[in-house]
Amino acid sequence: MNPDHHHDLLLTGGTVIDGTRAPRRRADVAIRQGRISAIGDLAMHQADRVIDATGGIVAPGFIDAHTHDDQALRTQPDMDFKVSQGVTTVITGNCGVSAAPLPSGPGWESLPMPLSLLDIPPEQRSLHFADYLDALRRTPAAVNMAPLVGHTSLRASTMSRLDRPASAEEIQHMQRLLDECLQAGAIGLSTGTFYPPAQEASMQEIIEVGRPLTAHRALYTTHMRNEGDQIMASLQESFDIGLALNVPVVISHHKLRGQDNFGRSQVTLPFIRDRMRHQCVSLDCYPYDASSTMIHADPVMLTGRVLIATSQPHPECEGRDLDDIARDWGVDRVEAARRLQPGSAIYFLMDEQDVQRILAFDDTMVGSDGIPLGERPHPRLWGTFARVLGHYSRDIGLFPLETAIWKMTGLTAHHFGLADRGRLAVGMAADVVVFDPATVRDRATYDAPQQTAQGIHWVLVNGEVTWQHGVHCATRAGQVLRRSVSQ
Ligand code: ZN
Ligand code: CU
Repeated sequence: MNPDHHHDLLLTGGTVIDGTRAPRRRADVAIRQGRISAIGDLAMHQADRVIDATGGIVAPGFIDAHTHDDQALRTQPDMDFKVSQGVTTVITGNCGVSAAPLPSGPGWESLPMPLSLLDIPPEQRSLHFADYLDALRRTPAAVNMAPLVGHTSLRASTMSRLDRPASAEEIQHMQRLLDECLQAGAIGLSTGTFYPPAQEASMQEIIEVGRPLTAHRALYTTHMRNEGDQIMASLQESFDIGLALNVPVVISHHKLRGQDNFGRSQVTLPFIRDRMRHQCVSLDCYPYDASSTMIHADPVMLTGRVLIATSQPHPECEGRDLDDIARDWGVDRVEAARRLQPGSAIYFLMDEQDVQRILAFDDTMVGSDGIPLGERPHPRLWGTFARVLGHYSRDIGLFPLETAIWKMTGLTAHHFGLADRGRLAVGMAADVVVFDPATVRDRATYDAPQQTAQGIHWVLVNGEVTWQHGVHCATRAGQVLRRSVSQ
Protein backbone atom coordinates (compact mmCIF):
# COMPACT_ATOMS: atom_id res chain seq x y z
CA MET A 1 0.00 0.00 0.00
CA ASN A 2 0.95 3.65 -0.41
CA PRO A 3 3.20 4.68 2.54
CA ASP A 4 1.86 8.20 2.15
CA HIS A 5 -1.48 6.77 3.22
CA HIS A 6 -0.24 5.59 6.59
CA HIS A 7 -0.19 8.05 9.47
CA ASP A 8 0.38 8.09 13.21
CA LEU A 9 -3.06 9.47 13.88
CA LEU A 10 -6.28 10.23 12.01
CA LEU A 11 -9.05 12.59 13.10
CA THR A 12 -12.08 11.47 11.13
CA GLY A 13 -15.53 12.87 10.46
CA GLY A 14 -14.98 16.39 11.82
CA THR A 15 -15.54 19.82 10.34
CA VAL A 16 -12.32 21.75 9.78
CA ILE A 17 -12.02 25.46 10.56
CA ASP A 18 -8.45 26.03 9.49
CA GLY A 19 -7.46 29.25 11.28
CA THR A 20 -7.42 31.49 8.19
CA ARG A 21 -11.05 32.65 8.44
CA ALA A 22 -11.93 30.43 5.48
CA PRO A 23 -15.41 28.86 5.77
CA ARG A 24 -15.63 25.52 7.54
CA ARG A 25 -15.53 22.31 5.51
CA ARG A 26 -15.94 18.61 6.11
CA ALA A 27 -12.48 17.00 6.22
CA ASP A 28 -10.39 14.35 7.92
CA VAL A 29 -7.02 15.36 9.31
CA ALA A 30 -3.95 13.11 9.43
CA ILE A 31 -0.82 13.52 11.55
CA ARG A 32 2.62 12.01 11.15
CA GLN A 33 5.69 12.76 13.29
CA GLY A 34 4.14 15.77 14.92
CA ARG A 35 3.02 17.45 11.70
CA ILE A 36 -0.16 17.55 9.65
CA SER A 37 0.39 14.97 6.91
CA ALA A 38 -2.93 15.13 5.00
CA ILE A 39 -6.29 16.91 5.05
CA GLY A 40 -9.38 15.97 3.05
CA ASP A 41 -11.37 12.82 2.42
CA LEU A 42 -8.98 10.26 3.91
CA ALA A 43 -11.30 7.25 3.77
CA MET A 44 -8.57 5.24 2.01
CA HIS A 45 -5.93 6.13 4.63
CA GLN A 46 -4.85 4.23 7.74
CA ALA A 47 -3.30 5.22 11.02
CA ASP A 48 -1.98 3.67 14.22
CA ARG A 49 -4.70 5.53 16.07
CA VAL A 50 -8.03 6.85 14.86
CA ILE A 51 -10.02 9.49 16.73
CA ASP A 52 -13.66 9.94 15.81
CA ALA A 53 -14.27 13.69 15.56
CA THR A 54 -17.78 13.39 14.16
CA GLY A 55 -19.90 16.42 15.04
CA GLY A 56 -16.85 18.35 16.26
CA ILE A 57 -14.98 21.36 14.95
CA VAL A 58 -11.33 20.56 14.21
CA ALA A 59 -9.22 23.71 14.57
CA PRO A 60 -5.60 24.70 15.09
CA GLY A 61 -4.59 24.69 18.77
CA PHE A 62 -5.24 28.10 20.30
CA ILE A 63 -2.42 30.56 20.89
CA ASP A 64 -2.74 32.65 24.04
CA ALA A 65 -1.37 36.02 22.88
CA HIS A 66 -0.90 37.38 26.39
CA THR A 67 0.12 35.32 29.41
CA HIS A 68 2.05 35.42 32.65
CA ASP A 69 2.76 31.69 32.52
CA ASP A 70 6.59 32.02 32.63
CA GLN A 71 6.95 30.26 35.96
CA ALA A 72 3.80 28.11 35.72
CA LEU A 73 5.45 26.29 32.79
CA ARG A 74 7.98 25.06 35.36
CA THR A 75 5.86 24.65 38.49
CA GLN A 76 2.53 23.57 36.91
CA PRO A 77 3.86 21.91 33.75
CA ASP A 78 0.57 20.16 32.94
CA MET A 79 -0.88 23.64 32.40
CA ASP A 80 -4.45 22.34 32.91
CA PHE A 81 -5.84 25.87 33.02
CA LYS A 82 -4.70 26.40 29.42
CA VAL A 83 -4.87 22.92 27.86
CA SER A 84 -8.45 22.46 29.10
CA GLN A 85 -9.55 25.44 26.96
CA GLY A 86 -7.73 24.22 23.84
CA VAL A 87 -4.65 26.42 24.24
CA THR A 88 -1.49 24.80 22.84
CA THR A 89 0.90 27.79 22.79
CA VAL A 90 1.42 30.66 25.23
CA ILE A 91 3.25 33.96 24.73
CA THR A 92 5.05 34.67 28.03
CA GLY A 93 6.87 37.65 29.53
CA ASN A 94 4.15 40.26 29.11
CA CYS A 95 3.61 43.61 30.83
CA GLY A 96 7.34 44.12 31.45
CA VAL A 97 7.54 41.00 33.62
CA SER A 98 9.54 37.95 32.49
CA ALA A 99 11.05 35.03 34.40
CA ALA A 100 14.51 35.96 33.13
CA PRO A 101 16.65 37.85 33.58
CA LEU A 102 15.96 38.39 37.27
CA PRO A 103 18.26 39.23 40.19
CA SER A 104 18.59 37.01 43.26
CA GLY A 105 21.33 38.66 45.35
CA PRO A 106 21.11 40.61 48.60
CA GLY A 107 18.16 42.98 48.69
CA TRP A 108 16.27 40.97 46.05
CA GLU A 109 15.07 38.10 48.22
CA SER A 110 11.54 39.24 47.49
CA LEU A 111 10.79 41.04 44.25
CA PRO A 112 8.63 44.16 44.04
CA MET A 113 5.15 44.01 42.52
CA PRO A 114 4.41 43.25 39.71
CA LEU A 115 7.56 41.10 39.31
CA SER A 116 6.40 39.11 42.32
CA LEU A 117 3.27 38.01 40.39
CA LEU A 118 5.51 35.39 38.77
CA ASP A 119 6.32 33.96 42.20
CA ILE A 120 9.88 32.82 41.45
CA PRO A 121 12.07 31.91 44.43
CA PRO A 122 15.64 33.32 44.33
CA GLU A 123 17.25 29.92 43.63
CA GLN A 124 15.27 29.62 40.39
CA ARG A 125 16.20 33.04 39.04
CA SER A 126 18.93 33.62 36.49
CA LEU A 127 20.41 36.63 34.80
CA HIS A 128 20.75 34.52 31.66
CA PHE A 129 17.74 33.98 29.45
CA ALA A 130 19.34 30.84 28.00
CA ASP A 131 19.27 29.19 31.46
CA TYR A 132 15.52 29.69 31.63
CA LEU A 133 14.88 28.33 28.14
CA ASP A 134 17.30 25.40 28.58
CA ALA A 135 15.43 24.34 31.71
CA LEU A 136 12.16 24.34 29.75
CA ARG A 137 13.71 22.34 26.93
CA ARG A 138 15.05 19.78 29.39
CA THR A 139 11.73 19.51 31.21
CA PRO A 140 8.99 20.44 28.74
CA ALA A 141 5.55 21.63 29.75
CA ALA A 142 2.30 20.51 28.14
CA VAL A 143 2.08 23.56 25.87
CA ASN A 144 4.47 25.38 23.54
CA MET A 145 5.78 28.76 24.57
CA ALA A 146 7.26 31.80 22.85
CA PRO A 147 8.91 34.20 25.30
CA LEU A 148 9.15 37.97 25.55
CA VAL A 149 11.71 39.73 27.73
CA GLY A 150 10.29 42.14 30.29
CA HIS A 151 11.72 45.63 30.48
CA THR A 152 10.98 45.70 34.22
CA SER A 153 12.93 42.45 34.60
CA LEU A 154 15.84 44.07 32.75
CA ARG A 155 15.62 47.06 35.09
CA ALA A 156 15.61 44.87 38.21
CA SER A 157 18.63 42.96 36.85
CA THR A 158 20.52 46.20 36.27
CA MET A 159 19.47 48.94 38.70
CA SER A 160 19.79 49.06 42.48
CA ARG A 161 16.47 50.90 42.79
CA LEU A 162 13.61 51.15 40.33
CA ASP A 163 11.92 54.39 41.35
CA ARG A 164 14.06 56.55 39.06
CA PRO A 165 15.08 56.80 35.38
CA ALA A 166 17.98 54.60 34.25
CA SER A 167 21.40 56.21 33.77
CA ALA A 168 23.26 56.04 30.45
CA GLU A 169 25.42 53.16 31.75
CA GLU A 170 22.38 51.28 32.99
CA ILE A 171 20.67 51.70 29.65
CA GLN A 172 23.75 50.29 27.91
CA HIS A 173 23.78 47.36 30.30
CA MET A 174 20.08 46.62 29.67
CA GLN A 175 20.72 46.85 25.95
CA ARG A 176 23.42 44.18 26.19
CA LEU A 177 21.18 42.00 28.36
CA LEU A 178 18.31 42.31 25.85
CA ASP A 179 20.62 41.41 22.98
CA GLU A 180 21.72 38.29 24.87
CA CYS A 181 18.07 37.35 25.52
CA LEU A 182 17.16 37.75 21.85
CA GLN A 183 20.11 35.62 20.81
CA ALA A 184 18.97 32.96 23.26
CA GLY A 185 15.53 32.87 21.61
CA ALA A 186 13.33 35.64 23.00
CA ILE A 187 10.86 36.96 20.41
CA GLY A 188 10.67 40.54 21.65
CA LEU A 189 10.49 43.06 24.49
CA SER A 190 7.51 43.92 26.67
CA THR A 191 7.06 46.99 28.84
CA GLY A 192 4.79 47.80 31.76
CA THR A 193 5.22 51.53 32.33
CA PHE A 194 1.83 51.46 34.08
CA TYR A 195 3.57 49.84 37.08
CA PRO A 196 5.69 51.63 39.70
CA PRO A 197 9.00 49.81 38.94
CA ALA A 198 8.89 51.06 35.33
CA GLN A 199 6.91 54.29 35.70
CA GLU A 200 10.05 56.43 35.79
CA ALA A 201 11.33 55.00 32.49
CA SER A 202 11.00 57.62 29.76
CA MET A 203 10.10 56.85 26.16
CA GLN A 204 13.75 57.51 25.34
CA GLU A 205 14.91 54.91 27.86
CA ILE A 206 12.67 52.31 26.25
CA ILE A 207 13.83 53.18 22.76
CA GLU A 208 17.50 52.97 23.75
CA VAL A 209 17.08 49.73 25.69
CA GLY A 210 15.08 48.35 22.75
CA ARG A 211 17.72 49.04 20.08
CA PRO A 212 18.68 45.34 19.65
CA LEU A 213 15.08 44.57 18.60
CA THR A 214 15.66 46.15 15.21
CA ALA A 215 18.48 43.90 14.02
CA HIS A 216 16.77 40.81 15.47
CA ARG A 217 13.49 41.78 13.78
CA ALA A 218 11.83 41.18 17.11
CA LEU A 219 8.64 42.82 18.35
CA TYR A 220 7.54 45.29 21.01
CA THR A 221 4.52 44.72 23.26
CA THR A 222 3.28 47.09 25.92
CA HIS A 223 1.02 47.42 28.91
CA MET A 224 0.78 51.15 28.35
CA ARG A 225 1.48 53.90 30.85
CA ASN A 226 -2.19 54.80 31.00
CA GLU A 227 -5.40 53.06 29.93
CA GLY A 228 -7.69 55.81 31.21
CA ASP A 229 -7.72 59.57 30.73
CA GLN A 230 -4.32 59.56 28.99
CA ILE A 231 -5.05 56.67 26.62
CA MET A 232 -4.41 58.63 23.42
CA ALA A 233 -1.00 59.89 24.60
CA SER A 234 -0.12 56.35 25.66
CA LEU A 235 -1.07 54.92 22.28
CA GLN A 236 0.96 57.64 20.58
CA GLU A 237 4.00 56.82 22.73
CA SER A 238 3.69 53.12 21.87
CA PHE A 239 3.50 53.86 18.15
CA ASP A 240 6.45 56.25 18.37
CA ILE A 241 8.57 53.57 20.03
CA GLY A 242 7.64 51.13 17.25
CA LEU A 243 8.52 53.69 14.59
CA ALA A 244 11.83 54.67 16.22
CA LEU A 245 12.89 51.01 16.35
CA ASN A 246 11.16 49.99 13.13
CA VAL A 247 9.52 46.99 14.82
CA PRO A 248 5.92 45.75 15.13
CA VAL A 249 3.91 47.00 18.13
CA VAL A 250 1.40 44.95 20.12
CA ILE A 251 -0.93 46.93 22.38
CA SER A 252 -1.54 44.58 25.32
CA HIS A 253 -5.03 43.95 26.68
CA HIS A 254 -6.50 47.07 25.11
CA LYS A 255 -9.17 48.49 27.42
CA LEU A 256 -10.56 51.74 28.77
CA ARG A 257 -10.72 52.05 32.51
CA GLY A 258 -13.00 54.32 34.52
CA GLN A 259 -16.52 55.60 33.91
CA ASP A 260 -15.27 58.84 32.36
CA ASN A 261 -13.61 56.81 29.62
CA PHE A 262 -16.48 54.48 28.79
CA GLY A 263 -17.15 54.48 25.05
CA ARG A 264 -13.76 55.83 24.07
CA SER A 265 -12.92 52.69 22.09
CA GLN A 266 -14.90 54.54 19.39
CA VAL A 267 -11.91 56.89 19.27
CA THR A 268 -8.99 54.58 20.06
CA LEU A 269 -9.85 51.91 17.48
CA PRO A 270 -10.04 54.31 14.49
CA PHE A 271 -6.74 55.82 15.70
CA ILE A 272 -5.14 52.34 15.80
CA ARG A 273 -6.65 51.54 12.40
CA ASP A 274 -5.14 54.70 10.95
CA ARG A 275 -1.66 53.94 12.36
CA MET A 276 -1.84 50.47 10.81
CA ARG A 277 -1.55 52.08 7.40
CA HIS A 278 1.90 53.39 8.37
CA GLN A 279 3.39 50.76 10.69
CA CYS A 280 2.81 47.24 11.95
CA VAL A 281 0.37 47.33 14.90
CA SER A 282 -1.81 44.73 16.55
CA LEU A 283 -3.60 44.32 19.87
CA ASP A 284 -4.93 41.72 22.22
CA CYS A 285 -7.95 41.63 24.49
CA TYR A 286 -9.53 39.38 27.11
CA PRO A 287 -13.30 38.80 27.08
CA TYR A 288 -14.26 40.27 30.48
CA ASP A 289 -15.18 43.70 31.82
CA ALA A 290 -13.04 43.36 34.95
CA SER A 291 -9.26 43.55 35.03
CA SER A 292 -6.83 41.91 37.43
CA THR A 293 -3.45 42.99 38.67
CA MET A 294 -1.50 43.87 41.82
CA ILE A 295 -3.31 45.52 44.74
CA HIS A 296 -3.06 49.27 44.25
CA ALA A 297 -3.66 51.73 47.08
CA ASP A 298 -4.28 54.49 44.54
CA PRO A 299 -7.80 55.98 44.88
CA VAL A 300 -8.12 56.14 41.07
CA MET A 301 -7.76 52.35 40.89
CA LEU A 302 -10.26 51.84 43.67
CA THR A 303 -13.35 53.59 42.28
CA GLY A 304 -15.39 50.54 41.24
CA ARG A 305 -15.96 47.17 42.90
CA VAL A 306 -12.68 45.52 43.93
CA LEU A 307 -12.37 41.81 44.67
CA ILE A 308 -9.23 40.58 46.48
CA ALA A 309 -7.62 37.63 44.67
CA THR A 310 -4.48 37.12 46.77
CA SER A 311 -2.97 38.90 49.76
CA GLN A 312 0.32 37.94 51.35
CA PRO A 313 -0.37 39.47 54.79
CA HIS A 314 -4.09 38.58 54.80
CA PRO A 315 -4.72 35.31 52.92
CA GLU A 316 -8.02 35.02 54.84
CA CYS A 317 -9.31 37.93 52.72
CA GLU A 318 -8.96 36.12 49.39
CA GLY A 319 -12.20 36.15 47.44
CA ARG A 320 -13.69 39.02 49.51
CA ASP A 321 -14.83 42.46 48.44
CA LEU A 322 -12.56 45.34 49.45
CA ASP A 323 -15.63 47.22 50.72
CA ASP A 324 -16.52 44.46 53.18
CA ILE A 325 -12.95 44.15 54.40
CA ALA A 326 -12.71 47.92 54.91
CA ARG A 327 -15.98 47.93 56.84
CA ASP A 328 -14.85 45.03 59.07
CA TRP A 329 -11.61 46.80 59.81
CA GLY A 330 -13.23 50.20 60.30
CA VAL A 331 -10.96 51.89 57.76
CA ASP A 332 -11.44 53.43 54.30
CA ARG A 333 -10.83 51.52 51.04
CA VAL A 334 -7.41 53.02 50.42
CA GLU A 335 -6.17 52.08 53.89
CA ALA A 336 -7.62 48.56 53.57
CA ALA A 337 -5.90 48.14 50.19
CA ARG A 338 -2.62 49.33 51.68
CA ARG A 339 -2.85 46.74 54.48
CA LEU A 340 -3.64 43.96 51.99
CA GLN A 341 -0.50 44.65 49.93
CA PRO A 342 1.30 42.86 48.43
CA GLY A 343 -1.26 40.84 46.57
CA SER A 344 -3.52 40.85 43.54
CA ALA A 345 -7.08 42.03 42.99
CA ILE A 346 -9.88 42.12 40.42
CA TYR A 347 -11.14 45.55 39.39
CA PHE A 348 -14.57 46.09 37.82
CA LEU A 349 -13.93 49.25 35.83
CA MET A 350 -14.66 48.61 32.15
CA ASP A 351 -17.66 49.12 29.92
CA GLU A 352 -19.04 45.94 28.31
CA GLN A 353 -19.70 47.83 25.05
CA ASP A 354 -16.00 48.75 24.86
CA VAL A 355 -15.02 45.14 25.53
CA GLN A 356 -17.23 43.94 22.69
CA ARG A 357 -16.11 46.65 20.28
CA ILE A 358 -12.43 45.93 20.94
CA LEU A 359 -12.88 42.16 20.78
CA ALA A 360 -14.73 42.44 17.47
CA PHE A 361 -12.15 44.80 15.95
CA ASP A 362 -10.61 43.02 12.99
CA ASP A 363 -7.01 42.87 14.20
CA THR A 364 -7.66 42.03 17.84
CA MET A 365 -6.13 38.77 19.05
CA VAL A 366 -7.44 36.83 22.03
CA GLY A 367 -5.11 36.85 25.03
CA SER A 368 -6.11 35.72 28.52
CA ASP A 369 -3.76 37.83 30.68
CA GLY A 370 -4.45 35.14 33.29
CA ILE A 371 -2.35 35.12 36.44
CA PRO A 372 -1.80 31.48 37.49
CA LEU A 373 -1.47 32.22 41.19
CA GLY A 374 -3.58 31.44 44.24
CA GLU A 375 -7.00 29.90 44.67
CA ARG A 376 -9.02 32.87 43.45
CA PRO A 377 -7.57 34.01 40.10
CA HIS A 378 -9.56 36.11 37.65
CA PRO A 379 -11.76 33.61 35.73
CA ARG A 380 -10.02 34.61 32.48
CA LEU A 381 -7.22 32.20 33.47
CA TRP A 382 -9.46 29.17 32.89
CA GLY A 383 -12.24 30.64 30.77
CA THR A 384 -11.01 33.06 28.11
CA PHE A 385 -10.98 30.92 24.98
CA ALA A 386 -14.17 28.99 25.62
CA ARG A 387 -15.89 32.27 26.53
CA VAL A 388 -15.02 33.80 23.16
CA LEU A 389 -16.21 30.68 21.32
CA GLY A 390 -19.34 30.10 23.39
CA HIS A 391 -20.60 33.35 24.85
CA TYR A 392 -19.30 35.93 22.38
CA SER A 393 -19.39 34.05 19.08
CA ARG A 394 -22.27 31.58 19.43
CA ASP A 395 -24.54 33.06 22.09
CA ILE A 396 -24.47 36.77 21.31
CA GLY A 397 -23.24 36.48 17.70
CA LEU A 398 -20.43 39.04 17.99
CA PHE A 399 -18.63 37.35 15.08
CA PRO A 400 -18.73 34.02 13.19
CA LEU A 401 -16.92 31.02 14.63
CA GLU A 402 -14.39 31.19 11.79
CA THR A 403 -13.44 34.71 12.93
CA ALA A 404 -13.30 33.70 16.59
CA ILE A 405 -10.87 30.90 15.78
CA TRP A 406 -8.78 33.12 13.51
CA LYS A 407 -8.38 35.60 16.40
CA MET A 408 -6.86 32.84 18.52
CA THR A 409 -4.80 31.05 15.85
CA GLY A 410 -3.84 32.38 12.41
CA LEU A 411 -3.90 36.07 13.28
CA THR A 412 -1.83 35.51 16.40
CA ALA A 413 0.73 33.26 14.68
CA HIS A 414 1.08 35.91 11.99
CA HIS A 415 1.72 38.78 14.40
CA PHE A 416 4.12 36.86 16.64
CA GLY A 417 5.98 35.23 13.74
CA LEU A 418 5.15 31.61 14.64
CA ALA A 419 5.54 30.35 11.10
CA ASP A 420 4.38 26.73 11.45
CA ARG A 421 1.54 27.35 13.93
CA GLY A 422 -1.96 28.74 13.83
CA ARG A 423 -3.19 27.04 10.65
CA LEU A 424 -4.35 23.57 9.73
CA ALA A 425 -2.46 22.77 6.53
CA VAL A 426 -0.17 19.98 5.38
CA GLY A 427 3.32 20.46 6.85
CA MET A 428 2.21 22.60 9.78
CA ALA A 429 2.93 21.52 13.36
CA ALA A 430 0.10 19.31 14.63
CA ASP A 431 -1.32 21.51 17.39
CA VAL A 432 -5.01 20.67 17.12
CA VAL A 433 -8.19 21.10 19.13
CA VAL A 434 -11.51 19.31 18.63
CA PHE A 435 -14.54 20.88 20.31
CA ASP A 436 -18.32 20.78 20.18
CA PRO A 437 -19.59 24.10 18.76
CA ALA A 438 -23.02 23.58 20.33
CA THR A 439 -21.86 23.09 23.92
CA VAL A 440 -18.48 24.82 24.21
CA ARG A 441 -18.58 27.36 27.04
CA ASP A 442 -16.57 28.74 29.94
CA ARG A 443 -17.52 27.63 33.43
CA ALA A 444 -15.03 29.70 35.43
CA THR A 445 -16.71 32.51 37.39
CA TYR A 446 -15.49 35.17 39.82
CA ASP A 447 -16.79 33.04 42.68
CA ALA A 448 -15.51 29.72 41.35
CA PRO A 449 -12.69 30.57 38.94
CA GLN A 450 -10.85 27.26 38.75
CA GLN A 451 -13.25 25.48 36.41
CA THR A 452 -12.40 23.76 33.16
CA ALA A 453 -14.22 24.75 29.99
CA GLN A 454 -17.04 22.60 28.69
CA GLY A 455 -17.10 21.07 25.21
CA ILE A 456 -13.34 20.79 24.56
CA HIS A 457 -12.99 17.15 23.54
CA TRP A 458 -9.44 16.64 22.28
CA VAL A 459 -6.28 18.72 22.43
CA LEU A 460 -3.11 17.69 20.60
CA VAL A 461 0.26 19.37 21.08
CA ASN A 462 2.89 18.60 18.44
CA GLY A 463 0.83 15.56 17.46
CA GLU A 464 0.60 14.17 21.01
CA VAL A 465 -2.82 13.72 22.60
CA THR A 466 -2.71 15.95 25.69
CA TRP A 467 -6.39 16.39 26.67
CA GLN A 468 -9.17 13.92 26.14
CA HIS A 469 -12.77 14.56 27.18
CA GLY A 470 -12.01 16.42 30.37
CA VAL A 471 -8.93 14.44 31.35
CA HIS A 472 -5.30 15.49 31.09
CA CYS A 473 -3.24 12.70 29.51
CA ALA A 474 -0.06 13.69 31.44
CA THR A 475 1.56 14.43 28.08
CA ARG A 476 4.14 17.21 28.06
CA ALA A 477 5.06 17.76 24.44
CA GLY A 478 5.47 21.54 24.49
CA GLN A 479 8.35 23.19 22.68
CA VAL A 480 10.17 26.50 22.93
CA LEU A 481 9.18 28.31 19.74
CA ARG A 482 11.19 30.84 17.80
CA ARG A 483 10.03 33.84 15.85
CA SER A 484 10.55 33.79 12.11
CA VAL A 485 9.63 36.64 9.84
CA SER A 486 9.14 36.39 6.12
CA GLN A 487 10.30 39.21 3.88
ZN1 ZN B 1 -0.71 44.09 31.69
CU1 CU C 1 -0.52 41.07 31.40
